[in-house]
Amino acid sequence: MASKPAQQLMDSFGRVHTSLRISVTDRCNIRCFYCMPAEDVQFLPRADLLTFEEIVRTVRIGVSLGIRKLRLTGGEPLVRRDLPRLIQQLTAIDGVDDIGLTTNGLLLADQAAELRAAGLQRLNISLDALDPQVFRKVTRRDGFEQVQQGISAARDVGFRPIKINAVAIRGLTEDQLIPFGKLARETDTVVRFIEYMPLDADSAWERDRVLTAREILTRLEAEFGPLIAESSAERDKKQNASRQLPLLHSESGGQAPARRYRFADGRGQIGIIASVTEPFCSSCDRFRLTADGKLRNCLFSLEETDLRGLLRESADDSAIAAAMQSCIAAKLAGHGINSPDFQQPDRPMYSIGG
Ligand code: 5AD
Ligand code: SF4
Repeated sequence: MASKPAQQLMDSFGRVHTSLRISVTDRCNIRCFYCMPAEDVQFLPRADLLTFEEIVRTVRIGVSLGIRKLRLTGGEPLVRRDLPRLIQQLTAIDGVDDIGLTTNGLLLADQAAELRAAGLQRLNISLDALDPQVFRKVTRRDGFEQVQQGISAARDVGFRPIKINAVAIRGLTEDQLIPFGKLARETDTVVRFIEYMPLDADSAWERDRVLTAREILTRLEAEFGPLIAESSAERDKKQNASRQLPLLHSESGGQAPARRYRFADGRGQIGIIASVTEPFCSSCDRFRLTADGKLRNCLFSLEETDLRGLLRESADDSAIAAAMQSCIAAKLAGHGINSPDFQQPDRPMYSIGG
């Protein structure tokens, strides 16, 4: 682990940013309704995407400012050609402690081994349903079987734990809660439910469709008995024990957005990411780089910093570092979803990066 950087990415509320999510493409092979329009998606032209060299340079500069943790996202990151090569390059950067990837799993069966060999440490698979019919409704595409094959392949090549992220939507994936609960109890899969956020392309999000953390817990408890919240201290201890690393600064304050719960009978655990009803903005330590090279200090920010322009105008490292710092300095206290004047960003999820 690298020593503490001379400069940190601290915002005006004292939050130190150590985690960067990098979108490597806005393309995707499915069309989840909460993320993409159904038809005629306008994808970025290739020349607009950051090259691997540009991404690596950005990360190097970020590491000098205290970034320690990376997550690759999209769109669907596995549709970006040669992704394992990028992972290799990022793993080689001194100071990067942790690299994760969030994928829909459709291309995993082919790529799991290569990703593992390239040094990828963590894998989250986005899967909102354990029923192929419901999967098709959410994603507007087939592919459920492929995702299952992808998950098996990930397990076979040694990714542990297998983490599934499931967006919980009233009237759509509601009846998937119990099957997911069973999966969490009967296998070593970690299931994390995510509250539905206003980041869809059609601005059709409605608060009523958010299945809240409270409701999710109530329903699981009715079926399986009490769930016990794990304290952040317990969680940090486990996470670090499993990785055999000293306690990371960024994890000591409970910043991880998922709250974990154990079933009281000792069988299995689940996580809930309650971005809407219990925002974790006050301890947020992350920011984002879009596939076209814009830095965003929040999923919901209305402003962004154009790093690609700087990278392509041959700006020096200090100018890029300064742009990163001012992006973080401008971060607002919270996402404001629950305030009456909340404005949904123009970019839907696929174009920001999950
Ligand atoms: N609300 C909640 N989660 C979302 N995701 C994408 N769009 C939304 C949304 N509107 C999730 C994906 C994936 C991760 C990248 O973000 O399902 O798990
Ligand atoms: Fe693709 Fe992920 Fe968006 Fe679904 S949520 S359409 S998998 S980018």
